[in-house]
Amino acid sequence: MSILIKNGRIITAVDDFTADIYIDGEKISAIGKDLEIPVDKVIDASGRYVFPGGIDPHTHLDMPFGGTMSSDDFETGTRAAAHGGTTTIIDFAIQSMGHSTLEGLDTWHAKAEGKACIDYGFHMIVTDTAGDRITEINRLIQEGVTSYKLFTAYPGVLYMDDAMLFRTMQEVGRKGGLVCVHAENGIVIDEIVRKAVSEGKTAPKWHALTRPTRMEAEAVHRTASIADLAGAPLYIVHVSSYDALEQITLARSSGMTVFGETCPQYLHLDHSYYEQEGFEGAKYVMSPPLREKWNQEELWDGLISGDLQVVSTDHCPFRFKDQKILGKEVFTKIPNGAPGIENRMSLMFNSGVVEGRISLNRFVEITSTAAAKLFGLFPRKGTVAVDSDADLVIFDPERTETISVNNPCTHNMNVDYNAYEGFKVTGIAETVLSRGKIIVENCNFCGTRGSGKFLKRSLFTEA
Ligand code: URP
Ligand code: ZN
Ligand code: ZN
Repeated sequence: MSILIKNGRIITAVDDFTADIYIDGEKISAIGKDLEIPVDKVIDASGRYVFPGGIDPHTHLDMPFGGTMSSDDFETGTRAAAHGGTTTIIDFAIQSMGHSTLEGLDTWHAKAEGKACIDYGFHMIVTDTAGDRITEINRLIQEGVTSYKLFTAYPGVLYMDDAMLFRTMQEVGRKGGLVCVHAENGIVIDEIVRKAVSEGKTAPKWHALTRPTRMEAEAVHRTASIADLAGAPLYIVHVSSYDALEQITLARSSGMTVFGETCPQYLHLDHSYYEQEGFEGAKYVMSPPLREKWNQEELWDGLISGDLQVVSTDHCPFRFKDQKILGKEVFTKIPNGAPGIENRMSLMFNSGVVEGRISLNRFVEITSTAAAKLFGLFPRKGTVAVDSDADLVIFDPERTETISVNNPCTHNMNVDYNAYEGFKVTGIAETVLSRGKIIVENCNFCGTRGSGKFLKRSLFTEA
């Protein structure tokens, strides 16, 4: 199949020009003015932006958590991602306690293969590197899994103590990988939680009130120091607060190799969502929790200054009706996580570009290019260039939609609520291509279940 995209305004992290794009098969074959090439299909992109497909490097599809499973699997989750203009995800495979990471990787391959509608890679959530297990890092790298998430939260489940953090970071640093950290001091938080529950504080809002920003900042500071000593580059996931960002800024200004991502929920939602009537607050139970509103502009400043490089979603949906409800009696039983894989690009375009906080180039950088570079996918993904995969979004910058669980142009996720219900966004992915195939056209999915390929990723390079 060959396609010619005519007259689109092509935006990359560094370019902004109007031209035609010739796609032959899965790759971009030529970019130029007034291309006259016989093709199977011509798309007129006049008045539209052409972005590299979005990359969401933080998703949890078909993931076990709190006695249930995240409600989007690799089919429904990647289809929803495509609707929103995301053409690559990096999901988290999990090492079960006492088992091999390679077993975990096999499990996640089985979940994704034959189901994913867009390309995908895996990070590995590493929980145990005692003894010989540490040598598995090398095997994972050979398998194209070059980044590892370590948790200072969730004691007894995914938590790693400082000794094992140091040991794992040293090995990842030696082998050229990237360490990702969920930074919250789970030990202290669990102590606060126990006290709150014993005092009868069981409503959803107590999830947030027992996870103070200081304990996020402490974990950032500690893991940055440990990673620096261990010689490993560090990427802090889902930064939610000014306190945590301040520690990243401090680490970076003292020369440490530390990066950070935030998520649309921390830029658009705030603590007041927990104060809603009844059990509604459970929809927003995630870790770290939503913070006081003033943190939002600080996080935007981090994206503007470059101390934060990436906006991912941490998409981890649980249905309100039969999953979030597991914590009706006590907030500790509410599965942690919220949906967002579909709405990231429009939300970031609307509040970033339309509202004047960031340039078009920076929008592309934080939603696609930076993740491709940090996670070993660039320039195959994350840009519009000859020989790159033809993962493209033809984006209508004028079209406005109201995000709603009932709007098929904004909600195709397998979950019974949308965290951004009622948000009006200007800027919608109109046509989405994955490796040269049109997979979304005017809010209709026309891709194929299982056409997404596993991406073996390269080692970390600072470029
Ligand atoms: O609440 C969240 N973030 N759930 C997903 C798991 C994680 O910690 O990223
Ligand atoms: Zn996390
Ligand atoms: Zn996560």
